[in-house]
Amino acid sequence: MDGLDALKAKYLAALGSATGEAALEEVRLAALGKKGEISALMSTLGKMEPEARKAAGAMLNVVKDEIDAALRAKKAALADAALDERLRSEWLDVTLPGRPRPRGTIHPVSQVMEELTAIFADMGFSVAEGPQVESDWYNFDALNIPPEHPARQEHDTFFMARASDDPRPPHVLRTHTSPVQIRAMMAQGAPIRVIAPGRVYRMDMDQTHAPMFHQVEGLAIDRDISMANLKWTLEEFCRAFFEVPSVELRFRASHFPFTEPSAEVDIRCSWKDGQLKIGEGDSWLEILGSGMVHPKVLASAGVDPTQWQGFAFGMGIDRIAMLKYGIPDLRAFFDSDLRWLRHYGFSSLDMPNLPGGLSR
Ligand code: PHE
Repeated sequence: MDGLDALKAKYLAALGSATGEAALEEVRLAALGKKGEISALMSTLGKMEPEARKAAGAMLNVVKDEIDAALRAKKAALADAALDERLRSEWLDVTLPGRPRPRGTIHPVSQVMEELTAIFADMGFSVAEGPQVESDWYNFDALNIPPEHPARQEHDTFFMARASDDPRPPHVLRTHTSPVQIRAMMAQGAPIRVIAPGRVYRMDMDQTHAPMFHQVEGLAIDRDISMANLKWTLEEFCRAFFEVPSVELRFRASHFPFTEPSAEVDIRCSWKDGQLKIGEGDSWLEILGSGMVHPKVLASAGVDPTQWQGFAFGMGIDRIAMLKYGIPDLRAFFDSDLRWLRHYGFSSLDMPNLPGGLSR
C-alpha cells in the first residue's frame, strides 16, 4: 500500500500543530472518522487478494494505532498546559499581609452626638429634629424674643434673601436649637422629654467660635418638673459623658428670654501643663445655658402653662467634644484636614453605648 508513510506524517504534523480540543477533533475525524482517510483505505481492503490484504491491513492498523496514540498524547498535553495556565493565573501569595482597613473615620462631633444620644436615651429622652433654615417666628418670636428685643442682635443672625418687595420677615439660619422645643411641643404636646442635637449658625469666628457649630437642646415638660430635676439630669449626664466618678457643676444666674429663672452652667476642671482635667481643680468652664421654660414659650407652643412646667437647656457639642477629647482649636473641626481626622476620628465600629463604656 503506497503513501501510508506520507499519510501518517501528515496527520502527526497536524496533531503537532493543533492548539485546542476543536482542532484535535478535526484531525481525528479527517483521519479516523467514519468518512476519514484511514477508514476509506480500510474499505479498499475487501477488494484485495488475501495475501496483499493481510499485509496492507496490518500496515494500516499500525498507522491507525500510531495516529490514535499521538492523538491521546496531544490531548493529555493540552490538558496539562491548561492546568498549568490556571495554576499560574490563579496563584495567590498567602504570605502577603492583609489589606489595610478603610481609612475613613467618624468625626468627633458625630461620635459625641452618638454618645450623648445614648446617655439621654437611657434617661428617657427621645431625639427631635427641626430645619436649619428656620422661620423667624420659631427662632425668635415663639421663644419670647419679639422683633425689637436686643437678644436678636446678640445672636449675630444670618438672614436668607427675600424679594425686596416681599413684606414678610426673612427666614434665618437657626441661631440655636431652641426652635426645636417649639416644634416638638407643637407636634407631641405635654408631657414630653426630648433632646435635639444639630447644627446652628452665627456670624462669629475665632479660636473658640465658628460660624457653624453644634448644639444639643434638652426639654423636659411635665406637671411637677423643677430646677432640681434639671440639676440632677445635667450632673448625671456630665458624669456619664466625661466618664468620671463625680463632677461638680456651678449654676450661675443668667438671663434668656425663653427661660425663667435662667442659669448658665460651668463644670469644675483643672488645667495642668496644658492638660485639661474634668471634675477636679479650681477652674470653671461654661458648657451650657438652661432654665425653667418661660410660660409664654409653653403658650406659644400650645401647651397650657397653668398645667405644665419644665426645664430646657442648650449645650455646645463642639465645646464638650473639645473638653472630652483634648482638642485645642475649634476651627480644625471643620477644616476637613485628613491628618486631623485620622488623629481625632473614631473607628466606625466604635458604637458608643452605656454598658460597653462610652469611649475607647
Ligand atoms: N438657646 C440658648 C443659646 O443658644 C441656650 C439655652 C437653651 C438656654 C435652652 C436656656 C434654655 O445660648
